[in-house]
Amino acid sequence: MHEPDLAIEAGLQYDSAGRLRHLLTLAGMAPERMRALLDRADALRNASRGGTRPLDLLAGRTVINLFFEPSTRTRTSFDLAAQRLGAQVINFDIASSSTVKGETLLDTVHTLEAMHCDAFVVRHKESGTPGFIARHLHSRAAVLNAGDGNRAHPTQGLLDVLTLRRHRPDFSELRIVICGDIRHSRVARSDIHALRTLGVADLRLCAPPQLLPATDEFPGCRIFHNFDEAIAGADVAIMLRLQKERMEHAEIPSEAGYFERYGLSEQRLRRAAAGCLVMHPGPINRGMEIAAGVADGQHSLILEQVANGVFVRMAVLAELLAPDAVPSMTA
Ligand code: NCD
Repeated sequence: MHEPDLAIEAGLQYDSAGRLRHLLTLAGMAPERMRALLDRADALRNASRGGTRPLDLLAGRTVINLFFEPSTRTRTSFDLAAQRLGAQVINFDIASSSTVKGETLLDTVHTLEAMHCDAFVVRHKESGTPGFIARHLHSRAAVLNAGDGNRAHPTQGLLDVLTLRRHRPDFSELRIVICGDIRHSRVARSDIHALRTLGVADLRLCAPPQLLPATDEFPGCRIFHNFDEAIAGADVAIMLRLQKERMEHAEIPSEAGYFERYGLSEQRLRRAAAGCLVMHPGPINRGMEIAAGVADGQHSLILEQVANGVFVRMAVLAELLAPDAVPSMTA
């Protein structure tokens, strides 16, 4: 129903002057623009003293979180990001809204627009929904994709590369493995776009055969079914959850044995390069795709990813709603 067409979305994403109008996908984003967003996130981290000082860049603006799927990190960090920039935030509660009375998605959006808002942050199980909303808006509101189906999660891709570049600023020599349910992962797709755009040449994708996308979807990535081979010498391991809520019955791997073949254990991590960084977008399933000791280990960046999510979302909101504003503190 939502015509998930990347070309159309890429056309929607920028205005005629080339400015970011919506954030729907990282596909096709120029490296300079991506780096500028990351620099902006770092600048806002400094200006807000790590998020402890409120800023007023978005004073008087209204951001509506429209989450049709569960979320802990993404929704909270969008909420905090907008509030720390001085915006008013509405966390629209789908379960107690007129959606349950049969109101359509667009009628809901147009209703909220009639009350005036500056941005919609949208998460939906159907790929293409944020673009669909962006195409049918009545106002100049911006749409930010907070995860659509298995397709894109652009702010997660940005926060992952922001986190990584703080530890490994030169991406060109990095060997990175992404392991897990790649087929159903919007995080994997946005990470792949971000990492490739910023110059990662050795990118390895590892999954059981039924959880890999079509072989031609990611040109330039090396495909593995054997995690011991894929992780050999890697500098970074990005682990993914089994997203059973998106799987067809035949794709669900047996849980017994999954960790043994595809889980990141302490022992398997020793096959990677010394100091291999461990990443995961969360939520993690301990003992399923990652051992608890690895998730909590000294090379785990998992909670840093969460922290950086707030700064990336501040940067994207500022870029969309106040592109020329310079941050100043309100207190
Ligand atoms: C992910 C998502 O919802 O796409 N989580 C997140 O946003 N950090 C990944 C997942 O649910 O496995």
